[in-house]
Amino acid sequence: MSAPSIDSVRSPTPSARTAVSLEPVLPKPEIPSAQLSVRNVTKVFEGKQDLFSKLTRKTTRDFTAIEDISIDIEPNTFVSIIGPSGCGKSTLLNMIAGLSDISGGEILLNNQPIRGPGPDRGMVFQNYALMPWMSVEENIRFAVETVYPKLAPKQMTRRIKENIQLVGLEGAEKKHPHELSGGMRQRVGIARALAIDPQILLMDEPFGALDALTRGFLQSEVERIWEQQRKTVIMITHSIEEALLLSDRIVMMTRGPAARVDEILEVPFPRPRNRETIDQHPAYHQLKTEMERHLFRETQAVEASRI
Ligand SMILES: Nc1ncnc2c1ncn2[C@@H]1O[C@H](COP(=O)(O)OP(=O)(O)OP(=O)(O)O)[C@@H](O)[C@H]1O
Ligand SMILES: [Mg+2]
Repeated sequence: MSAPSIDSVRSPTPSARTAVSLEPVLPKPEIPSAQLSVRNVTKVFEGKQDLFSKLTRKTTRDFTAIEDISIDIEPNTFVSIIGPSGCGKSTLLNMIAGLSDISGGEILLNNQPIRGPGPDRGMVFQNYALMPWMSVEENIRFAVETVYPKLAPKQMTRRIKENIQLVGLEGAEKKHPHELSGGMRQRVGIARALAIDPQILLMDEPFGALDALTRGFLQSEVERIWEQQRKTVIMITHSIEEALLLSDRIVMMTRGPAARVDEILEVPFPRPRNRETIDQHPAYHQLKTEMERHLFRETQAVEASRI
């Protein structure tokens, strides 16, 4: 009698499985769990219905900005969020940052519900949000000291220096924000967020206030830094090209109110990526067109609802 083939042992018929288990005892495959899990999240901004508002005729209704949004984000992924203006992108990011309450659903970071801001999430703002009276170095030091008050002075200095180098701001350490260009200010914003060594970097239109050329330079810088650190990033952007250059996945949101996730695109381009050559990838134009159509359709519907 010939011995059973390997295939027949690995894939027994149902009857063989019940009679004698021939399946080798294999360790269960590890399902990669999401680092950040947004589960059925809704945000309702409560209206004003109190007596004073009634007397001054300034009552407002409850407003559901986003509704039932679910996204799972694996570690070391660069995720962009794109959607028409006012759809609720910042609202969602602020809830992930712990800066805004969640009305329904939950957001889990490493399986733990988010209950407020924390050093595990670093934020980069469109308007930089630097302390104007502090130098570049002091702005970064202030953030690190706030999160790690017991850090030894030597380590503190090293951490500040490393992050200043990372964003290419050597020589500007003693300058104050008013002495810096917009691009340099945002470099400080990025260095400050990274200096606290967060698990996740959150960026709300980080290049939105910059001219096109500076924006391009900083995008390439962020791509370079991401290659070095591979931190999980969630970035809001209005730029299709920016999202395609930087992201592994792009979350496309519908228009509000009650905005939802329309589709999540996978961006398959190999890394490191180069802005000069990325559009030569066979999938580039198809993804770009899909995003353009989505944004056009959603924005058109917003405009139509205003008429
Ligand atoms: N504190 C608030 N109270 C009431 N409504 C708010 C509040 N903050 C935001 N909204 C509303 O929620 C909706 C989503 O706002 P949000 O700022 O998140 O949009 P966005 O997608 O970030 O827009 P943009 O692309 O213009 O930055 C908008 O209709 C906005 O008016
Ligand atoms: Mg916004």
